[in-house]
Amino acid sequence: MPKVDVVVYNIGELITFAGGPLERVSADKAFIVRDAGVAIKDGVFVSVGRSGDIRFRFDGVMVDAGGFMVSPGLVDPHTHLIFAGSREDEFELKLSGVSYSEILARGGGIYRTVRATRASSFEELLSRASRILDLMLAHGTTVVEVKSGYALDLEGEVRILEVARRLARVSPALVVPTLLAHVPLLEYRDRVSEYARWFAETVVAEVSRRGLASYIDVFCDRGAFSVEDSKIILEAGLKHGLRARMHADQLSYIGCSKLAGELELDSLDHLERMPSVNARILAERGVTATLLPTSIIAMMDPAKPPVGELRESGVVVAIGSDYNPNNMTPLQQTAMDIAPYILQLTPLEALAAATINAAKSLNIHDRVGAVKEGYRADLVVWDMESYKWIGYTWGYNKALTVIAGGSIVKNRLTAS
Ligand code: NIG
Ligand code: FE
Repeated sequence: MPKVDVVVYNIGELITFAGGPLERVSADKAFIVRDAGVAIKDGVFVSVGRSGDIRFRFDGVMVDAGGFMVSPGLVDPHTHLIFAGSREDEFELKLSGVSYSEILARGGGIYRTVRATRASSFEELLSRASRILDLMLAHGTTVVEVKSGYALDLEGEVRILEVARRLARVSPALVVPTLLAHVPLLEYRDRVSEYARWFAETVVAEVSRRGLASYIDVFCDRGAFSVEDSKIILEAGLKHGLRARMHADQLSYIGCSKLAGELELDSLDHLERMPSVNARILAERGVTATLLPTSIIAMMDPAKPPVGELRESGVVVAIGSDYNPNNMTPLQQTAMDIAPYILQLTPLEALAAATINAAKSLNIHDRVGAVKEGYRADLVVWDMESYKWIGYTWGYNKALTVIAGGSIVKNRLTAS
């Protein structure tokens, strides 16, 4: 019998998404296999088929999925995982009616986290981020994008990305590092363009030279970077071989999402204030819309992205946790379960958004985000009979077994 590393069998319902990212999600395009099994070797799926065939064809560590539903591992395409400190008093301020923008304009919010992060050691940043990453894994997140953005100066941004690199080496999760131009340094607030040019020429160049990031990202908004300044930074990243994504149209609409028509962007994130007509630009340019349902709650602001138009225009929709000190939930599982309530996604749309479509947002959908031969072996056995239970059940950890890159990182079912 061929020897593999792990065999998972007796899967009641396996959602493979083997057809790739989905613009219009439906059960017939999700490649669902009933009574399924998978074999894993050297970190990738080597066989996907009927439970009986797989179980008796391969020899390895045997995991009985107990008839439960299995999906690809969750891909979280938007996190600010590495930072220090907390902002619980701002939570109370927001409850009393002070807006996120107002707190930021007063030098709080991101600026406060920058002060705390700069005052922390490499080891402190690493140990906190790895603890949260373990929590993410235990809840089914097997791939995580990690942004810098809480230092704003060259040494500090490089240091955060070095923490990300260390995380990538020690964790079974796949880490996708992003250099984020978050806000200008406070002393540059009256000359933001100068800071943007410096960031583009110095930070982007140095981070690329050291190979510390896959992506360049900019917070394009009032109170952060203008469309013109964002363009300078994104173009610098593209020129240095990074791929590009953007925080767009979150707090106000100043035209950020229109940049998708000009630059090669993989994803526009947030979009709470995007005019619905702009959905067409994303569709035409093949840009993923990465929506952040827990972040919408944390903002305490009723604005929502135009989900209906995104869907009708044929835009690939992803979701992410947007874990950050303003939105302290690190769980993509929670984002997925509340997406039906906050964004009116169907349970299957929410699952696609948190797996294969999130992989598309990170441009890794040719090897990540689906249960398919040759793909990275990331999967979750869920305490759910069917994908139809996504959102219908929520608020407790439903990830029973988690496999990341072929390693069993959690197993509440029997393995022999
Ligand atoms: O994605 N909008 C900008 N950045 C983060 C928030 C970061 C923070 O408040 O510390 C976001 O929501
Ligand atoms: Fe963000």
